[in-house]
Amino acid sequence: MNWLAGRVLENRHWTETLFSLRVENAPLRYQAGQFVRIALDIGGQRVARAFSLVNPPQDPVLEFYGVVVPEGPLSPRLAKLKAGDALQVASNPAGFLVLPELPDAQTLWLLSTGTGLAPFLSILRTPEPYRRFREIVLVHAVRHARELVYRDMIGKLKVRYVTFVSREPHAGSLAGRIPAAIDDGRLEAAAGVALSPETSRVMLCGNPHMLKDASAALQSRGLRKHRRRAPGHIVLESFW
Ligand SMILES: Cc1cc2nc3c(=O)[nH]c(=O)nc-3n(C[C@H](O)[C@H](O)[C@H](O)COP(=O)(O)OP(=O)(O)OC[C@H]3O[C@@H](n4cnc5c(N)ncnc54)[C@H](O)[C@@H]3O)c2cc1C
Ligand SMILES: NC(=O)c1ccc[n+]([C@@H]2O[C@H](COP(=O)([O-])OP(=O)(O)OC[C@H]3O[C@@H](n4cnc5c(N)ncnc54)[C@H](OP(=O)(O)O)[C@@H]3O)[C@@H](O)[C@H]2O)c1
Repeated sequence: MNWLAGRVLENRHWTETLFSLRVENAPLRYQAGQFVRIALDIGGQRVARAFSLVNPPQDPVLEFYGVVVPEGPLSPRLAKLKAGDALQVASNPAGFLVLPELPDAQTLWLLSTGTGLAPFLSILRTPEPYRRFREIVLVHAVRHARELVYRDMIGKLKVRYVTFVSREPHAGSLAGRIPAAIDDGRLEAAAGVALSPETSRVMLCGNPHMLKDASAALQSRGLRKHRRRAPGHIVLESFW
């Protein structure tokens, strides 16, 4: 594998555990929604992890959105990087959470938990979703309201933005979890559009338990995983 020697331009801290790294000097070709491995050399070993690209492909400054997993080998160190520090970036982005994988429909649903928001911010800053879907619903589920990040950017997008805050009451956000709100109709009511196999395509990203539970809820509504040989409605990417 080839590594590009990137340099940190900025490390923005949204909370004590959430950060966004902007990295220059690592030119990449990729599709919006893909991820790339980034790495630091720790104790003589290169420690690499997959991170989704937040920036759209036309923007040469790479952006990554991360959470500190306190016991994790890499994320606490990424959170401490400062402007000017080195960050290795693999030269081969990859991943199937990309719009060309999905057939056209009326509504695109983008369902995320935590840092799973990242790839959708890249996709939503390209022209393709607006060309192919009449309605776009961006859903972000977090534990605490302060984790509803990138709100200024999202406010400028032509999307219906629905948030979940699961561990404290928060005006303007739904309580609980995405799968239950699919089951009981609260998600559709909040978005103001119907969720059906005829009208909808769904991309899911983040916590693997959410992906599993939300996929089951969607399947009970008649939506099924998309495969190239058997076109369907759902594509997903698990972060762990
Ligand atoms: C395709 C792909 C794309 C990814 N994109 C991102 C991204 O854009 N931003 C990001 O922060 N992480 C992303 N991840 C996760 C990332 O690769 C690392 O696992 C994460 O940064 C933690 O690294 P670590 O070495 O500190 O701990 P690890 O040893 O990698 O993870 C330890 C544990 O932390 C938990 N965990 C890992 N990642 C997350 C997370 N994102 N949110 C909550 N809990 C987590 C899991 O329980 C995991 O078992 C992605 C993973 C994959 C497979
Ligand atoms: N977020 C923090 O305050 C915080 C602080 C320190 C460290 N961390 C680290 O980050 C990790 C978690 O990060 P995170 O909060 O971004 O991610 P997360 O645990 O995936 O939580 C994000 C959202 O996903 C929801 N969720 C969890 N399981 C689900 C399921 N099966 N179906 C549907 N929704 C589900 C959560 O709801 P519930 O609340 O109902 O679970 C929450 O609303 C921790 O393991 C820890 O290592 C996080």
